[in-house]
Amino acid sequence: MRLLPLFAAITLSLSVTATHAEDAPTPARVAVRAAHLVDPQSGQLRDNPVVVIEGERIVEVRYDGQAPANAKLIDLGSATLLPGLIDCHVHLTGDPGEIKGDYYEAILKRSSIDSAILAPIYAKRTLDAGFTTVRNLGAGDYVDVALRNAIDHGDIPGPRMLVSGPPLGATGGHADGTTGFSPWITFNGIDGVADGVDAIRHRVRENVKNGADVIKFMASAGVLSAEASVGAPQYSQEEMNAIVDEAHRWGKKVAAHAHGAEAIKMAIRAGVDSVEHSSLIDDEGLKLAKQHGTYLDFDIYNDDYILAEYAKKGFPASTVEKERMVGRVQRENFQRAVKAGEKLAFGTDAGVYPHGWNAKQFAKMTQWGMTPMQSIQAATVNAADLLGIKEKAGAVAPGYYADLVAVNGEPLKDITQLEHVGFVMKAGAVEKNELSR
Ligand code: ARG
Repeated sequence: MRLLPLFAAITLSLSVTATHAEDAPTPARVAVRAAHLVDPQSGQLRDNPVVVIEGERIVEVRYDGQAPANAKLIDLGSATLLPGLIDCHVHLTGDPGEIKGDYYEAILKRSSIDSAILAPIYAKRTLDAGFTTVRNLGAGDYVDVALRNAIDHGDIPGPRMLVSGPPLGATGGHADGTTGFSPWITFNGIDGVADGVDAIRHRVRENVKNGADVIKFMASAGVLSAEASVGAPQYSQEEMNAIVDEAHRWGKKVAAHAHGAEAIKMAIRAGVDSVEHSSLIDDEGLKLAKQHGTYLDFDIYNDDYILAEYAKKGFPASTVEKERMVGRVQRENFQRAVKAGEKLAFGTDAGVYPHGWNAKQFAKMTQWGMTPMQSIQAATVNAADLLGIKEKAGAVAPGYYADLVAVNGEPLKDITQLEHVGFVMKAGAVEKNELSR
């Protein structure tokens, strides 16, 4: 009963907001003009594009270079436009820059409050790099939910986020931060450790309740965690089935971290929507992914950074050794997946390497078998399909969010141009503009 006045107040403020909305003037039109547009839907480079925007959406795309008279023109000159980029695997609540040569200090002296303070900086770097949508696959204490909400409310700048909350994982596995410590050391806070079907179903429901858009779980061991294996399965088939069944019933997609061939196949059989890393996938795994329509994410830039920097950051030699076991094979398997015509989405695991460097992965993808257009499709139309937002993001077309980026020159000739995005618009708002004259 004591809650009643509160509800009354909320109802009142909602009706006030509604009245304001009715009075709002129709949004002014904006036209963005450039020399070219990379259109991932058709796989074509189009000339003389003019994108007409009303509010947060695109209302018209024309190819005559003519801006409508009633629109405010943003002229990007000789630049090339693309849809805002999408990274399907980031961790905006951490950055390797925070680990200053002392691995144990980073683990033992920091909490989610430190993450929450720094995350907006990484969100802004990511947006400025041209990524207008990201899927954040794993964060403790629901810091990712708070970050997404602050961005959605317009409190801070950042990419549109789909978030998982704490990733599910087995005791002693890749999601269990206490592995490798004395049994007397425990950490306070919310993580996703859950064993057995009932506990797993409960954990999925808790993540949904607390605001997760997607469910992430650790199907296999990992590189940057303390287990000896890099790819062994860490859940039984029954447990993986339960995660997917539960998540899908609540209308949430599932992303499975998996390096090892067996864990990848178990996750695909369970019905996950994407496999993250996919490092040691075998022929049977590639075949299964195709049969099930499973997206594969290969974070194939990571290896360069981990091998160059992580020993200096004080990570155990065994971790760097594990990276050596997967890095090169992962790239070779990426190439096999491209040849096999798998469904591939762009996911970098940024946060393992610095935020804002996301686009460095494009060059790796073209070096290992993709055309520049395919690599851009992985980060636009395919990524939007995986995220379940393909009707509103990942393309430049009427009805879509006005998420636009632009680069100088022609990225289809030199994909590294995407590492130097000079213009970013998210949902009709200009976030960065170094190009317009
Ligand atoms: N977060 C991943 C893990 O710890 C990073 C793997 C990076 N290595 C790679 N070759 N993609 O397992």
